[in-house]
Amino acid sequence: MRLIRSTLTFFILCSAISCLHAQDIKWNEIEPGIWKATVGKPESFNLLTASGAIAYHAGLTDMGGTPFPLLETDIYAKVTDGKTYLRFPLDRTEQLYGFGLNFKTVQQRGKILTLHVDNYEGRDNGRTHAPTPFYISSKGYGVFINSARYIKIYAGSAVRTDSKNPPEVQDRNTNENWSARPYSDGVEMLIPAEGVEIYVLGGPTMLDAVRRYNLLNGGGCLPPRWGLGFTQRVQRLSNASDVANEARAFSERGYPLDFIGLEPGWQSKSYPCTFEWDKIRFPDPRAFVQGMLKQKIRLNLWTNPYISPEATIYKQIAPYTGSHSVWVGAVTDITMPQARNIFFGEMSKNKIDIGISGYKIDEVDGGDEYLWPDVATFPSGHSAEQMRQTYGLMMQRYVTQIYHEKNERTFGLVRASNGGGSSFPFVIYNDYYDHRDFITALINSGFAGVLWTPEVRDSKTGEEWLRRFQSNIFSPMAMINAWASGTKPWSFPEVADQVKQLATLRMKMMPYWYSEFAKYHFKGTPVFKAMVLEPGFANSEQKNSVDNTNLKENPYGKLTTEEIKDQYMAGEYLLVAPMFTGETTRKVILPKGKWYDFYTGKYVGNGEVISVTPGLDKIPVYVKDGGVIPMMPVMLHAPSKNEKVNLEIRYYGEKPGHYLLYDDDGETFDYEKGAYSFREINIVSKNGILKGTLSAPEKGKPNTIGKVTFKKME
Ligand code: GAL
Repeated sequence: MRLIRSTLTFFILCSAISCLHAQDIKWNEIEPGIWKATVGKPESFNLLTASGAIAYHAGLTDMGGTPFPLLETDIYAKVTDGKTYLRFPLDRTEQLYGFGLNFKTVQQRGKILTLHVDNYEGRDNGRTHAPTPFYISSKGYGVFINSARYIKIYAGSAVRTDSKNPPEVQDRNTNENWSARPYSDGVEMLIPAEGVEIYVLGGPTMLDAVRRYNLLNGGGCLPPRWGLGFTQRVQRLSNASDVANEARAFSERGYPLDFIGLEPGWQSKSYPCTFEWDKIRFPDPRAFVQGMLKQKIRLNLWTNPYISPEATIYKQIAPYTGSHSVWVGAVTDITMPQARNIFFGEMSKNKIDIGISGYKIDEVDGGDEYLWPDVATFPSGHSAEQMRQTYGLMMQRYVTQIYHEKNERTFGLVRASNGGGSSFPFVIYNDYYDHRDFITALINSGFAGVLWTPEVRDSKTGEEWLRRFQSNIFSPMAMINAWASGTKPWSFPEVADQVKQLATLRMKMMPYWYSEFAKYHFKGTPVFKAMVLEPGFANSEQKNSVDNTNLKENPYGKLTTEEIKDQYMAGEYLLVAPMFTGETTRKVILPKGKWYDFYTGKYVGNGEVISVTPGLDKIPVYVKDGGVIPMMPVMLHAPSKNEKVNLEIRYYGEKPGHYLLYDDDGETFDYEKGAYSFREINIVSKNGILKGTLSAPEKGKPNTIGKVTFKKME
C-alpha cells in the first residue's frame, strides 16, 4: 500500500515538474566500438552526408570492440516543440573536451555553447571555424551529434529538478561553499530539428574515442610529402615575375620551399571573384605554373566562393544560387550536382588542370555582417543554417574529389569545417593573431578532427617572429602568410639564421611527420594533440584526489583541475612547449616516464614539472623514453614521387624503442589500393647496448628509403 502511494506521489510530482520520459533509444553497433541511434525523424542532410564521409572499416576493425561506455538508461531524448532534446550523464569527476576548435579553453565542462560556423571573434562561445558537435569525456568515451544545425549545448551547467545526483542546497548567508554554479550531472543539448542521429564512441581511453571518431570520418587526411614542407604566401597583388623572384630568393638564400600561395590578385577581380587569371599579372598561366613546377615549386590559389557578375560562369550558375549575395557575389548552392558541375568545373579549368596543386578556401565561415543571413534561401531547399554549417565542409569535399579523380594528392587551407571532415586535406587558419590562443587551438584541433596552423604573418620584433616561427614548424602546415605584410622568413635579420635552421629542421623531420600523418589516416590518431590524450597522463580515477599543492612530486593532481593550454604532443614521441614573446623561462609538465631533450638527448625528468630557460634559439621539445625520430638530410624541397632518400634514425633514452615508419610514393592515392607499407624500426638492447634495425621492404610496395643509419642521442 505504502509502495503504491509513493509511486503515485512520484508520478504526480513528476508531471508537475515535467520529468523526463525517456524515448526508447535503440543503440546499434555500426562498427566495433561505435554505436548509432536515431531520435525522432532525423534530417537526411547532416554532417556526414554533407561531407560524404565513409567509415574506415579496416581501421575500426583493427581497434577491436569495447563495451558500450554508458548506462543506456542514463541517456534521454525527446522531440518537443519541433526540437530535439538530448541529455547525457556526467559524474562528479568527469571532465569534457572537444566541441570544436576553441581558442581559449581546452576543458569544456560547465560551458554553454551554440555551435555555429563562424569567424572566431575572441570568445569560446561555440562560434568558431569548426564547431564540431563531438565531445570526449575523461571517462574514455565520445559523443557525436550528426546534425548540420546550430546546436545549443549545456555541457554540465544546468540542474534538473529530477536529477539523479542533485547538488546540495547551500545557504549563501552562512555557507562559504555556496556556488553560483551548482554541480550539474548532465550534458544537455537542443537541436533545432525534429530528430537527430547520435553516435557514441567507445574507449576505453579518450584517445581511443578520438581515434574512433576520426575513423568514422574515413580516417585522418594523408597529405602529400610536399605538403609537409614549407609554404610561403605572397602579397595580394604579386604577379608572375614577383612569384618567380620569390622562389629564386628562397633558393639563393638556402631556405626550403615547397609551395607558394597566391592571394586574391591572381584573379582578374576578387570579392566577388571571377575565378579567372588576371591577364596582366599572369599573362600565360600554363607556362607560369609549369615553369614553377619544373623548379619543384607548387602553387596554391586563394579563393572565396562568391561569384562576381563579371565571371564567365555567372549567368550559367545564376539559377543555382541563393537568395542573398556575399560582397554582391552569388552564392552557389553546392548541394546541387548541376551547380557543382559548373562551379568545380571552373575551379579545375585552367587551374587544377594546368598543374595548380591546391586551394585556400577563404571566408566560408562568417562573420554574420557579410555572409548570407539565416533568412536566405537556396534553390535546393536546404536552409541557410544548414548551408552555413556545411559550406566549408562541402568545398573541401568537392575540391578533394577533383584531385582524387586525377590521382594526385593536395594539401590546402580552409577557414571552415565541421564534423565529418577529418579526412579532408585542408588546414584551418584565420585572421586572429594571438600566439598563445593559436597554441590552444592547435591542442583543440586534435579533439575536433581538424588541422590548424598557427600561421606567421608579421611581428613587432625579431623575438616575436622567431617565437611564432618555432611553434609554426611544429604544426600541420609550416607557413608564412605574407598576403598583407610582404614578410619573408629573413625579414628580421637578427633572427634570420635561426629561422633558416627551423625551416630546415622541419624538412629533416619530414619522415617523422609523414609517418605520423599516416597514423592519423590509418589509425585515426591525431598528429597534434592535448597532453590529456597522452596515454597514462591524466588518469580520470585520480581526479581531484591529489593534493594540488604537491605539484613537483605529483603533477597529475593539478592536471585534473587545471587545463594545459601551452604544451602539446606532436606525433607519438614529441612534447612541444612553445615559448611566447617576453618569456625567458617556462614550466613544462612531463608525464610519467623518462623524458629527454630533443636536440641533445640529455635526460630532463620524469613525471614532474621542470622549469626551462632554453634561450631565444630553441623551442623546448622533449622525447619520450624509447622515442624514435626518423630524419632525412636537409633538402630544399620535399622528395619527389618515389624518390629514394637516406634516413638517420635517432633514438632516445634507455628503453627499447619501436616505431612504425610509413612509406608510399608520397603523391598519389595508390595507398588506398594497398601500395604502402609500415616498416618496423626496433631499437633493441644487445649486451647492454641499444642497436637499431629496420624491417626489410615489402615486395611490390613503393620503397623510398635509401641508406639508413641509426644515431643514439646522448
Ligand atoms: C582573409 C584571409 C587572409 C587573406 C585575405 C586576402 O580573409 O584570412 O589570410 O587571404 O583574406 O584578402
